[in-house]
Amino acid sequence: MLKKNLENLICPITNIKFKIKIFKKKNDRIIDGIIISKNKDWYKIEDTILDFTNVDEHNYQSYESFKRKYKIKLKLKKKKEIKLINFQKNFFNHNTNKYEKEITKSPFSKTFDDFYLKQFIQKFKGKTIINIGGGSAREALYFAKKNIEVTIVDVSVNILKLAKKKLIKNKLYKNVNLICGYAEKLNIKDKTFDGWIVYGAAHHFHNPKKSFLEAIRVTSKNGQFLIWEPSNTPLRKIFDITMKLFCLWEEEDHVDFLFDQNFFKNTLKDKSTNLITKNVILIPPHLYYINFYYFRRLLILIDKVICSFPLLRKLGGTVLVNGNVK
Ligand SMILES: C[S@@+](CC[C@H](N)C(=O)[O-])C[C@H]1O[C@@H](n2cnc3c(N)ncnc32)[C@H](O)[C@@H]1O
Repeated sequence: MLKKNLENLICPITNIKFKIKIFKKKNDRIIDGIIISKNKDWYKIEDTILDFTNVDEHNYQSYESFKRKYKIKLKLKKKKEIKLINFQKNFFNHNTNKYEKEITKSPFSKTFDDFYLKQFIQKFKGKTIINIGGGSAREALYFAKKNIEVTIVDVSVNILKLAKKKLIKNKLYKNVNLICGYAEKLNIKDKTFDGWIVYGAAHHFHNPKKSFLEAIRVTSKNGQFLIWEPSNTPLRKIFDITMKLFCLWEEEDHVDFLFDQNFFKNTLKDKSTNLITKNVILIPPHLYYINFYYFRRLLILIDKVICSFPLLRKLGGTVLVNGNVK
């Protein structure tokens, strides 16, 4: 955690300021420390990663050894996790490397990043951004390269450890904060950031609507945002069938939430300006594996042609949302 960013945080229990004890720091960064709430609940910053999630089966051991290491007298209070959030922690904590190999590094992801993420970053005017459900820094690496300060919030500590490793390897960690926490309750002061991004993550969240409103709350007026999520359209059905026949990656289907443009319009229209929602066609992903360059071009062409017909555009298997905070 960067020291200067501590002042943007609020206590998960009282929603006001908290006490902080620093055990280890280096230059402008807190390596190890604790945040103590008024009711004596405490949250650790370990190896620079702040953990705002409940103490439960996923992090209990690490809290115990941290407590011993720094002779912390405060009690550890275990708290049960919401079922879906526990499921997500389990999945992403235990499948970190598999997810990285199968999805983050896939030609499917690369195509979307090249065409939509990079476009957003080129137009991004702010200095700071919050990346909610940011995983292993897929998006953050691009922002950090542009000298934009990124705060990644993600519920899986293992995926954040991988993010840290990748950022350090690319010499891009100096401008990044990692918070293990909930999209639905960010524990960050109002209007802290210049923008926000939720990229392929909200369909895993416990409460996507609440998460988007939190993202808006912590962003200053006119801050830009980008959402990219799977959408509930006819092409998605083709995706589901091809994935059943030739599975490219493991999906947690039973919890996935599919969006449509109206969901975003209804959730964000009163809170944003310049809201644009559009479906994108670039699937099925299997084609990229046959011949990456050929099919990538073909799918981009199809996307352009189909998207020029408003009715056909609605077929697209994913939805992109852009706007500014009101
Ligand atoms: C499909 S991954 C996408 C990660 C990243 N945006 C990318 O494209 O590589 C979804 C991420 O959301 C995180 N996640 C799931 N539920 C969450 C929640 N309620 N709050 C914060 N993060 C959550 C998961 O741990 C996972 O890293």
